[in-house]
Amino acid sequence: MTIIEQLQQRKPVIWHNPQVEQEPTHFLFERVLIDEADARLQRFASYFIESFPETIATQGIIESPLTALRKLGHDFNADVLLKRDDVLPVSGSIKARGGIHEVLVLAEAIAREAGLVTTAQSYKAFATHPIITELAKHTIVVGSTGNLGLSIGIMSAKLGFRVVVHMSHDAKQWKKDMLRAKGVEVVEHEGDYSVAVDTGRKEADADSWSHFIDDENSQQLFAGYAVAARRLAKQLPQQPTLKKPLVVYIPCGVGGGPGGVIYGLKAQFGAAVKCFMVEPIESPCMLLGMATGKHDAICVEDIGLTNQTIADGLAVGRPSRFVGRLMEPLLDGIVTVSDERLCQLQRQLWAREHIYVESSAAAGFAGLELVASHYPTAQHIVWATGGGLVPQSEKSQEFV
Ligand SMILES: Cc1ncc(COP(=O)(O)O)c(C=O)c1O
Repeated sequence: MTIIEQLQQRKPVIWHNPQVEQEPTHFLFERVLIDEADARLQRFASYFIESFPETIATQGIIESPLTALRKLGHDFNADVLLKRDDVLPVSGSIKARGGIHEVLVLAEAIAREAGLVTTAQSYKAFATHPIITELAKHTIVVGSTGNLGLSIGIMSAKLGFRVVVHMSHDAKQWKKDMLRAKGVEVVEHEGDYSVAVDTGRKEADADSWSHFIDDENSQQLFAGYAVAARRLAKQLPQQPTLKKPLVVYIPCGVGGGPGGVIYGLKAQFGAAVKCFMVEPIESPCMLLGMATGKHDAICVEDIGLTNQTIADGLAVGRPSRFVGRLMEPLLDGIVTVSDERLCQLQRQLWAREHIYVESSAAAGFAGLELVASHYPTAQHIVWATGGGLVPQSEKSQEFV
């Protein structure tokens, strides 16, 4: 049976990437962009301490803890750590890495161009009026299924930008409400993620004061996500080796978030890390693009899938324009998961460890479930990608 026929059966699959290099050598993204992202996030640390007090504990760095899951590890018979991007400061999801970074790129460029700050000065200046007034002349536009919109909306509004978020029909009402309460303009679409992105792109193109953050194609988002890996290296209880590798499972939508993190991990740990993405059975856009080699020239609807899933953050039918190509030598495989199993895994995490994540963010456990037995000596990291801002009223409607 071909991989397309398997996907059409709507049953969970494990796709092993035939192009992966066991000893990766092809790193096709400009590494200097990742170094610059790291340095930029450091420059803004004093601003974050001032403007987002929740970052004081991490010295103004937007970073999340790495937690051992003893009970779930026992259930899955594996040594399991959870990367808590669900509690990342500012916007409570993995999107706080790339999304915030790209807003900072724009803010820094505008403020420097206007002569309002230099890299030698304290970036606390971004919380003061000359810069806020300057940034208010500019509009940031983005298309999103929800969490990227939250990251970019919250960050941009705080810096003073006008910000417009185009939301796909999957986006949860509370995410739109939260953004509006922070002064963000939210445009709701009946169409899916690609429609929201396209409309935002056209709107921004028509206005020279608008900057479009292009989730399908952004190098600066990718660079922001990739910084996670070097920070993770400092958190690990032990560095991975060929004998005791690290195996990482990350939910995938358009691919930028997991792709950036995986790129960084492979650059950091080489052959000692194995990386798997996880997608919903109705939205396996990265798997389809990579397995066919067509990347963004094919979408899940082309093979009769619906792109309908409860995992709102992963409801993407067409993959990024560039991430799949970068992943060809680096990604070990992709796993798919049904909505039903996703909900069970989300509940299991709550029941066993008392950790709530949103449904999209539980997808990594489906990777652990299908892949862990292939690596019996490994340490496994499930990347929890969102849930920190979910209001209690929403959680109560689920199971918490
Ligand atoms: C909770 C969550 N996990 C994972 C992802 C996937 O990120 P990407 O779309 O960059 O692949 C998203 C995207 O919005 C998300 O919201």
